[in-house]
Amino acid sequence: MLLKNLRDEIDATLARDPAARSRLEVVLCYPGFQALLFHRLGHWLWQRRWLLAGRFVSHIGRVMTGIEIHPGARIGKRVFMDHAMGIVIGETAEVGDDCTLYQGVTLGGTKLTRGAKRHPTIGKGVIIGSHAQVLGPFRVGDGARIGPNALVQAEVPDGATMVGMRARPLGAHPAQPSPEPVFQPYGLGEDIPDPVARALNGLLDEVTSLRTRVAELEKGERLRSGGGGRRELQLGNGADDQERVA
Ligand SMILES: CC(C)(COP(=O)(O)OP(=O)(O)OC[C@H]1O[C@@H](n2cnc3c(N)ncnc32)[C@H](O)[C@@H]1OP(=O)(O)O)[C@@H](O)C(=O)NCCC(=O)NCCS
Repeated sequence: MLLKNLRDEIDATLARDPAARSRLEVVLCYPGFQALLFHRLGHWLWQRRWLLAGRFVSHIGRVMTGIEIHPGARIGKRVFMDHAMGIVIGETAEVGDDCTLYQGVTLGGTKLTRGAKRHPTIGKGVIIGSHAQVLGPFRVGDGARIGPNALVQAEVPDGATMVGMRARPLGAHPAQPSPEPVFQPYGLGEDIPDPVARALNGLLDEVTSLRTRVAELEKGERLRSGGGGRRELQLGNGADDQERVA
């Protein structure tokens, strides 16, 4: 039975990834398949209340594959995680049979209620595009498809295709600036300039002012041309620019 399940999972990878060429390649080179092996063991321990051991096996799987699956999560058969780096599956998430998840997918929660269901239930045969975020304790219907980078925060009907994400201002008015300096770890405002962009802008300003100065000098030279003698332009630092007539 165990061997049959393993073979089915390998075959699911072969069927869904044209880049996969042999069962051995799937076993050796597919982190999605390897992560499922760690998860099966971690989940087995978790169900028997060996919680720390389950978490530890899950953690080893994360270190080895870059995929984080909580041992409490329920993962169905023939689930295929392609590329798979960065996938996160939370404790109370459920993933149905024959689902496909691409890299960066999060099946996460938005509430901290301990013991409650916090993560989504994914139906059968669902495809979740790369870096999509499915957050909350709702159901994604059988056969649904979720586009890359989509943010899904509510129930998805069977067979639906979901794309896009919302962004909106938080609060009616912008926050008042604080008189005291405030540490803003990820609140990247204008006060935190990009040093590379600042250097490039300085160089562009300099080039523009030099071009203007050269144009002025060329114009003066043209007006005075015909007066004879050899003329030489000497460019200095802005104000020092001067014209010498030999
Ligand atoms: C979202 C998805 C499931 C839709 O597949 P589909 O039904 O075959 O749809 P199509 O690709 O034919 O696109 C249909 C329409 O939806 C639009 N569309 C597709 N994906 C979209 C997205 N993420 N955001 C906005 N519009 C999208 C297309 O532009 C097209 O619009 P049009 O009819 O006006 O030209 C699929 O495009 C997808 O992105 N799958 C996940 C792929 C992925 O993550 N790959 C990672 C590989 S490493």
